[in-house]
Amino acid sequence: MVNLESIIGRNRKDLEKFGLKGSGFIGKHLVIREYDWVLTTKVYFDLLRPHVMLISGKRGTGKSYASGVIIESFCMLPDEIRNKMAFIVFDPIGIYWSMKYPNEQQLSLLKEWNLEPKGFVDKILLYVPEKQIDEYKDAGLPVDGGISIALKDFSVDDWILAFGWKRTDEIALVLEKNLTELLKTGEEFDVNDLIEKIRNDDEAKDEIKKALVSILRVVDEWGIFSKKGKKIDEIVEPGKVVIIDTSRIKETAIRTMLAAKITRDVYFNRVLARKEEELAKIESREPTYKFPLTWLIFEEAHNYIPSERETVSTRPILTIAKQGREPGVSLVVITQMPNKIHREVLAQTDIVLSLRLTAKSDLDALHSIMQTYMESDLEQYMNKLPRIHGAAIVLDDNQERIFSMVVRPRVSWHAGGTALVNV
Ligand SMILES: Nc1ncnc2c1ncn2[C@@H]1O[C@H](COP(=O)(O)OP(=O)(O)OP(=O)(O)O)[C@@H](O)[C@H]1O
Ligand SMILES: [Mg+2]
Repeated sequence: MVNLESIIGRNRKDLEKFGLKGSGFIGKHLVIREYDWVLTTKVYFDLLRPHVMLISGKRGTGKSYASGVIIESFCMLPDEIRNKMAFIVFDPIGIYWSMKYPNEQQLSLLKEWNLEPKGFVDKILLYVPEKQIDEYKDAGLPVDGGISIALKDFSVDDWILAFGWKRTDEIALVLEKNLTELLKTGEEFDVNDLIEKIRNDDEAKDEIKKALVSILRVVDEWGIFSKKGKKIDEIVEPGKVVIIDTSRIKETAIRTMLAAKITRDVYFNRVLARKEEELAKIESREPTYKFPLTWLIFEEAHNYIPSERETVSTRPILTIAKQGREPGVSLVVITQMPNKIHREVLAQTDIVLSLRLTAKSDLDALHSIMQTYMESDLEQYMNKLPRIHGAAIVLDDNQERIFSMVVRPRVSWHAGGTALVNV
């Protein structure tokens, strides 16, 4: 029987209306007894409503694995539901592409859970920086497309935030002047055009020009900037999971710029689509503009929404955390250190799935999310978790409860395992 406790993130009204529809199987309840533990009923995950979710846990405890389980449950939804949604994964480690293939590494574990290995070759799309496509292909990776952003999509303030400059720094002022002049022409331009323009700026000091040109050269090297930039509706596809693999971009500033641009675009397009959906309903017709309800997953999220400073992706992601519900944009942030995540994102979190965590500061960060109904000590809950793969605690604000579970094994291949010396 399905009861409310079976579906993380689902409220009573939705349970009565939809039952298990639009949810995915992600594990089993874990009951901890005095001397042992036992797995009981199945745990599902709500994919119908927008959520803000935190996945935390120490290194190697199963965060990426668990996020993969959620992605799988999306991939396994019936077409008519799945095709109204889309997932985007910001993957700076370069591990999610392997979900195209079946999990042949944990066959006996899958058998214990009555599951079969399964790859999602047609639902997982691997996108890489446009100019790195050949590099990825040469390494044998199943690339589906290239991604790029345009210089014109970023203001000087974005650059300042991305590179940690001050508004009054000379480097920022020189960039501002030249970028603004290029933007005014209304013509397309790339990094080389901007470099050329800066070189010809007679008012700027030579050393500042040199520093700026050298930064721009590095920026260009990562192959993510182009004249036009890829449009968001050429990237996001209904019913699909787009993996944006930035593992070959070593510059965090560039990754955050890319994340900022895509996050802004998704939000903007969903706001438009939502308005059109309402209008179409009022006028009893089909919407003319469509954009799927989107889930954004950030691996190593402390880089995109750090607690101690603002970066270029901070505001776009905060907007999703605070206002994503209405247009239907969900957020999943994954980190080893919840304490390093922006407080305002934590405050908006409605679901926490945390694998083992021990640092007091990190436990305090979790505590701050749901203190009202969490009578029992979080540390005790954590300490009681058995040392088995996938053992986690869940805090669900929708149901105001905390419980333990074990995340089920993956049916698709997980590429993020701990490296082993090959002997
Ligand atoms: N639910 C699970 N069932 C079975 N095995 C699991 C489960 N969760 C994790 N594992 C195993 O643990 C390994 C590490 O998991 P994972 O890569 O998700 O760690 P992580 O928390 O993301 O680590 P990091 O902080 O280094 O990114 C996996 O390769 C897998 O072998
Ligand atoms: Mg990981």
